[in-house]
Amino acid sequence: MSIKKITQASLANKIVLVRVDYNVPLSPQGSGWSVRDPRRLQASYRTVEHLLRLNCKVVLMSHLGRPEAPGQKKFSLAPVFKYLQKNTDWPIKFIDDYSDAASVRAQIDQSNPGSVFLLENLRFYPGEKKNDPEFVNLLASLGEAYINEAFSSCHRAHASVDGLARALPAAAGFALYNEVEAFTHLLQHPAHPFVVIVGGAKISDKIDPIVNLSRIADAVLIGGGVANNFLKAVGLAVQKSYLQDTPADLQKVGLNYVDLADQIIDDNRSNRLLKDGYIPLPKIIYPVDVVAAPSMDSTDTSIVELTSNDKICDRCQNMYLDIGPKTTRLYKELILQAETVFWNGPMGIFEQKQFARGTKEIARAVAKTGAVTLVGGGDTLAALDKFGFADRVDYASMAGSAALEFLAGKKLPGLEALEK
Ligand code: 3PG
Repeated sequence: MSIKKITQASLANKIVLVRVDYNVPLSPQGSGWSVRDPRRLQASYRTVEHLLRLNCKVVLMSHLGRPEAPGQKKFSLAPVFKYLQKNTDWPIKFIDDYSDAASVRAQIDQSNPGSVFLLENLRFYPGEKKNDPEFVNLLASLGEAYINEAFSSCHRAHASVDGLARALPAAAGFALYNEVEAFTHLLQHPAHPFVVIVGGAKISDKIDPIVNLSRIADAVLIGGGVANNFLKAVGLAVQKSYLQDTPADLQKVGLNYVDLADQIIDDNRSNRLLKDGYIPLPKIIYPVDVVAAPSMDSTDTSIVELTSNDKICDRCQNMYLDIGPKTTRLYKELILQAETVFWNGPMGIFEQKQFARGTKEIARAVAKTGAVTLVGGGDTLAALDKFGFADRVDYASMAGSAALEFLAGKKLPGLEALEK
């Protein structure tokens, strides 16, 4: 990797600006909010503590959500500040307004080495999303060096991710570096058989990573709402299941997500052999059965076999809400035979007990396999948590879109800006 790591940068005694991703879920508490899932905060501790040992002053910067106007309370990082104050021993201060950069810099200069500052939501400043050079300069004037510890924001060419990395001596924090290393290894040197599991609702986020990963993987197992596009592509009825609408720009070029799924199946027809060479399978594998119900909260479930269209009632008004038992068995078998597994996206509506089995069993297989396992995306990590397998995977990435773009083979602006 051509990215400079935090340990290769000369940072001792400096004021270091650290771009973290503290875009975390909040829960209402009294008249305010509190941090519901602190994992993104905890992921930055190693970098912050390394800098404190080097006698640095640390200025933490993050966005939270997508505010439409500056100062909207529900997007304030104040609850994050409270969490850090309570759960770390850092002498931390909250800077809620840094439009007067000179006075904030004076405050930082006067503080003791080892001080930590958290800036209020970067997206309260319009210059952040525009990567505005003036805002880049404002941020740069607050410190002497820059660390990016926010892999999950690296797909955004924003001021704190892109411009600032070019304006100051820059390097990657521990978490970002490890994450990029893990995903690079997955793309470049995965041990085979390499099994990819893709689920979730929306195919739009997954199509490019599926295309790229299917070049490398031995099997791509499809579940969740994404599977409906593949089922439809091979002519199977999906009844009234969720099928993502195709956006206008794709329609303009005469494509829709079902055609794209069909193209992926076609491009990967050649059979590959899994471990020991005895299971010939197409590379793209979609469900052979599903758990269906009239609605997402219905308990009136049935198993629909998808092997032949005659058995599927076209007039039926069911939704496919989980992979079925035969599919689950097949997917588990393949996961257990793999040497590398990457999983992104649940197999169904796992939050509802009656549609949780597929996701739970896949989580169990991912936890049990002897393969190197990487899991990414908020919903997938939530599923691992719910079923008690969170500490049984080798690498859990909290990056959603950034990881998918990286796995799709795209260049991420935040990483490009860090290249040596
Ligand atoms: C994420 O949660 O994926 C990152 O924080 C990026 O958030 P964004 O999609 O609002 O840029």
